[in-house]
Amino acid sequence: MNYSKQCFYVFAILAVSFLNIQCKSEKKKEVIETNTEIATNQVTIEKSDYGITSEGEKVEKYILKNASGIEIDIITYGGIITALKTPNKDGVSQDIVLGYNSLEEYTNSNPYFGALIGRYGNRIAKGKFKLNGTEYTLATNDGENHLHGGLKGFDKVVWKASEEKNDASASLKLSYLSKDMEEGYPGNLDVTVTYTLDNDNKLNVVYEATTDKTTVVNLTQHSYFNLSGDSSTSILDQELKINADTYIPVNETLIPNGELATVENTPFDFTTMKVIGKDIEADNDQLRKGLGFDHCWVLNEQNTGVRYAATAYDPSSGRVLEIYTDEPGIQFYSGNFLDGTLPSKNGGTYAQRSGFCLETQHYPDSPNQKDFPSTVLEPGKKYESTTSFIFSVKK
Ligand code: GLA
Repeated sequence: MNYSKQCFYVFAILAVSFLNIQCKSEKKKEVIETNTEIATNQVTIEKSDYGITSEGEKVEKYILKNASGIEIDIITYGGIITALKTPNKDGVSQDIVLGYNSLEEYTNSNPYFGALIGRYGNRIAKGKFKLNGTEYTLATNDGENHLHGGLKGFDKVVWKASEEKNDASASLKLSYLSKDMEEGYPGNLDVTVTYTLDNDNKLNVVYEATTDKTTVVNLTQHSYFNLSGDSSTSILDQELKINADTYIPVNETLIPNGELATVENTPFDFTTMKVIGKDIEADNDQLRKGLGFDHCWVLNEQNTGVRYAATAYDPSSGRVLEIYTDEPGIQFYSGNFLDGTLPSKNGGTYAQRSGFCLETQHYPDSPNQKDFPSTVLEPGKKYESTTSFIFSVKK
């Protein structure tokens, strides 16, 4: 073989192997791309650092995302939902919950934006209750009453986090051990709250707790929604329906007088879809006491497990939020105490009624109200409660 022939063969072999390698790598790329396609149809969960509290505790943020573009950001401080992005009727994704941009703002002053609430969501009169003949005294952090777990409730502690994932959903499991006599409550309370996002646009929240001494428990989630996606607008034009024929009237410190009242022919009738602002300024003693709506509705179909509780709808964006729960009640709070002093996420401030809360729970002051469903948890028993938030759009 002469020199030029040799050169030709070497070149030909090199060219063939090069083409072969190219081909293989194209195939590999294809496989990776197919995998990515599968991956994007799954619900994802991602973790990042969020900050450090003044006590030196590390706080993390988890982002859950599903295939239709719902994104939920949750931090381990207070189990707070810091952002909840859902598409509007034109497919534009916007944040529909009130909150802040930094840990510092959450730790400085937070009217429970997005937070997990415990041990006791809502008020306990004068911060006192009796269990098996022993009187317990809790912190009074709302005038003379105890509210949402006290001075350092579950909204202000750092929770331990773990992730779970399967093909259809992703979960963030948050756990916290509340020590015996913390905020005045008896018993070491082991609490777990699991947030699960699925591809059916459902955020499921499951609360579980056990205790080593008889105690009271009433856990809830305190997100402030503004379904328009623009918290500079009022919630008064948004609509609400609550599956409740009765509600719980309160005294001037928002403690129930023990009675249930019919909603019929009152501003509290949300049995069919009604604009929130329609009756909010009506001449009504209960509205004066609450500065608007800040009451617990007694949900229909009690003791039937998880059932329909409420629907909120924003005609401008088309967003619909449906709530299902196994709790006996739902506190509808129309953001009456927001007063334009707290900074919003987009540079403004949160005005009165720029967000509403729908907090599924047992009734306020149950430990002192003998006719209300019990909130007592005994050792050896398990507290379990489920609430689902379902997001959709109506065109
Ligand atoms: C709850 C209460 C309200 C108010 C808010 C937080 O929803 O019912 O009265 O305290 O929390 O500001």
